[in-house]
Amino acid sequence: MAGACLLLLLLKMCGIHTEEETKNPWGWERNDSQVASEDWKQRLPKSIIIGVRKGGTRALLEMLSLHPQVAAAHSEVHFFNMEENYHKGLGWYSQQMPVSQPNQITVEKTPGYFSSLKAPERIHMVDSAMKLLLIVRDPVERLVSDYTQILHNRKARHKPYQSLEQILRRGQELNTRYKAVQRSLYAVHLARWLEFFPRKQIHVVDGGSLIREPLSEMRHVEHFLGLKPYLGPENFYFNQTKGFYCLQARGHQHCLDQSKGRPHPTIDELLLEQLCTYFSEHNENFFAMVGRTFNWC
Ligand code: A3P
Repeated sequence: MAGACLLLLLLKMCGIHTEEETKNPWGWERNDSQVASEDWKQRLPKSIIIGVRKGGTRALLEMLSLHPQVAAAHSEVHFFNMEENYHKGLGWYSQQMPVSQPNQITVEKTPGYFSSLKAPERIHMVDSAMKLLLIVRDPVERLVSDYTQILHNRKARHKPYQSLEQILRRGQELNTRYKAVQRSLYAVHLARWLEFFPRKQIHVVDGGSLIREPLSEMRHVEHFLGLKPYLGPENFYFNQTKGFYCLQARGHQHCLDQSKGRPHPTIDELLLEQLCTYFSEHNENFFAMVGRTFNWC
């Protein structure tokens, strides 16, 4: 065992990566001489999915991973938004990336970046040409999805929990300080990114449309990233049991895990209306900033 570890370490030090490390989930074939070649290395991302949390960020990353010109970091890295990681430095950050070839672009996704105060400037300092992907979804649906995830985690840890109504109702007022409400204020967060990046460097993906028609959204993403058009109808199939599109390539089929596409609790209609009213002005601001409208509540 110790011998095997030592061998792995030596291979790494020589810039040789093992099959396990270089394999992407879709198993693009590489022969041994390619794997050992100098071309394969860990590179900093050229594109980052910055959010929004519960917007469909995992689906977007997994769909992008189907493209042979994309090398995706499959775990969320939380480099630019968490002090503990940021202070580990750029060397640590690049070690979190998958190995890639020069003709590939590395992509990472950390939805926590979008609402982080420091991430925009920090990313800009690392690469002012970074291509940013922002996937958005009806802010009320996003809030309910966010709450559903928090609820699920609390129940799993046997912690006490409240209904969304209990959290959000303060007499006649809405508790707009709730973090999941704040995270749905897209215009507020986007304003910080636009201080550092021009609008054309941020591609907005419609999360609702990615659910209904993934291929058409992904074609826009391919174009924005300057990738060869590659994805086609054969890469997506609707899974009745999951209730969502799943992915297929090279004989493999894959649906997102069960934490994606969870049933949401029923929320009081009046509260939903109150939320829609509250978000409508923020949504208008967001539409003006991105130069397009979305069919939200
Ligand atoms: P719900 O679980 O509330 O339905 P994120 O990956 O950013 O956490 O986003 C999760 C959301 O992605 C899910 O929210 C789901 O609606 C959405 N989604 C989009 N495409 C999906 C797909 N093909 N399979 C599963 N979930 C998908």
